[in-house]
Order: sequence, then C-alpha cells, then structure tokens
Amino acid sequence: MKILSEHWNNIFAKTDTEKLGWYESDFEQTIKFLEQIPNWQNSTIFVSGAGTTGLVDLLLQENANLVLNDISKKALDLLKEKHADKEEQIRWLCQDISKPLPDLQVDIWIDRAVLHFLTDEAAIEQYFINLEKSVKTTGYAIFAEFSKLGATKCAGLELTQYDSPELQKRLKNFNLIKEEDYIYYQPSGDPRPYIYTLFQKTHLS
Ligand SMILES: C[S@@+](CC[C@H](N)C(=O)[O-])C[C@H]1O[C@@H](n2cnc3c(N)ncnc32)[C@H](O)[C@@H]1O
Repeated sequence: MKILSEHWNNIFAKTDTEKLGWYESDFEQTIKFLEQIPNWQNSTIFVSGAGTTGLVDLLLQENANLVLNDISKKALDLLKEKHADKEEQIRWLCQDISKPLPDLQVDIWIDRAVLHFLTDEAAIEQYFINLEKSVKTTGYAIFAEFSKLGATKCAGLELTQYDSPELQKRLKNFNLIKEEDYIYYQPSGDPRPYIYTLFQKTHLS
C-alpha cells in the first residue's frame, strides 16, 4: 500500500465530490444528532477526516467555529477554495488522526466514515487519546461508522466495523446519549449500513 495520504489525495484529485462513494447531499441524520446538543451552533466543532463534505457549509452557515482535519491535503485544498470567505471560522489541520494532535479544546467532535478506516490497534488507541484530550468536559462526540452489518472495505481499504458497545468500551469518560442504525445509499444506489451514536463527556480525562 502506498502512503495513505497519497491514496486519499488521488481519490479527491480524480473523483468529483458528487460521485464519491460516501457523498451526501442531505445532512438530516447528522443534524438530528446535533440537535440533541444544546446551543450546538455556538460551538467549536472538530470534524475528523472532513474530506469535501457539504456538512461544512451547513455548520459554517450556523456560525459554528470549526477545526477541519484530514490526512489529504487535496481534500482540504478543495474545502479551502470553497470557504475562502469563512477563514475566520476555520482552523485547518492536515494530519493523520491516528497520530498525536496539537492541543485543542473543542465542544463537539464529529466523525463520519473516518474512524472505521483505522485497523491497527495502536492507531485506534491514539485516535481515542486524541479525542479524550481534545473534547472539553461535558463536550460531545458524534460517530457515524460502518455497522457490524456494513461493508468490510471502502475506498479500497479494509475497515473496522462498529457498534455502540465497542465505541463505549473505547470512551471511558463518555456516556452514550443516543444511537441509531441508519442506511446510507451511495450515489450508485448501493446500501451501506451505518451506526450513528452521540456520546457526552462526563468525567475529566
Ligand atoms: C470516506 S471519507 C469521509 C469524508 C467525510 N467525513 C464525509 O462524511 O464526507 C474518509 C475521509 O477520511 C480521511 N482520512 C482517512 N484516513 C485518515 C486518517 N488516518 N487521518 C485523517 N483523515 C483520514 C480521508 O482523506 C477522507 O477524507
């Protein structure tokens, strides 16, 4: 396997956003989970592996401050072009989410279809150390990952499938607030079962 950042750069360079196998035009499912969080619009939100998601447009319109992370510089460059007028609301972070993050203090962490690409135990552990350190006490984490019924590969990569007990096991200082199974339909029409969860941090880490 070539360098992971190059793998993702190639995908974003070659594929129009609307044709990506994880493209969404409707963010209702994520909004439903955000709406469980009081005053989420005035939050600082960390978007793990943001890719070129249109969720960013929606979060910016609602006046949230964002930390936009991705291992792919190409994806972040595409987002930067699109949101040049909103720079004061955005901090950019081009790095592997399974490596130690700089110091951050965010209210909400959102991960859709990123965590499930980590298959190495050390990488998964570091991901959750990053999350625990970065989310303020009483802050929240939303995950949308391939469920145990989901596919075992995406974008040519192996995956780890999730359910809420598996996430809870990793999130010692968080309580589960909400969970839901959800079927996402790819642009090709193929169904992809996801698990959506919302956790709240209840203890200092
Ligand atoms: C399936 S896409 C999902 C993109 C976006 N979250 C969405 O919902 O449209 C996975 C994204 O995670 C990024 N990614 C994959 N592995 C990563 C890692 N280890 N660290 C940071 N980003 C990563 C990819 O570059 C890509 O943008």
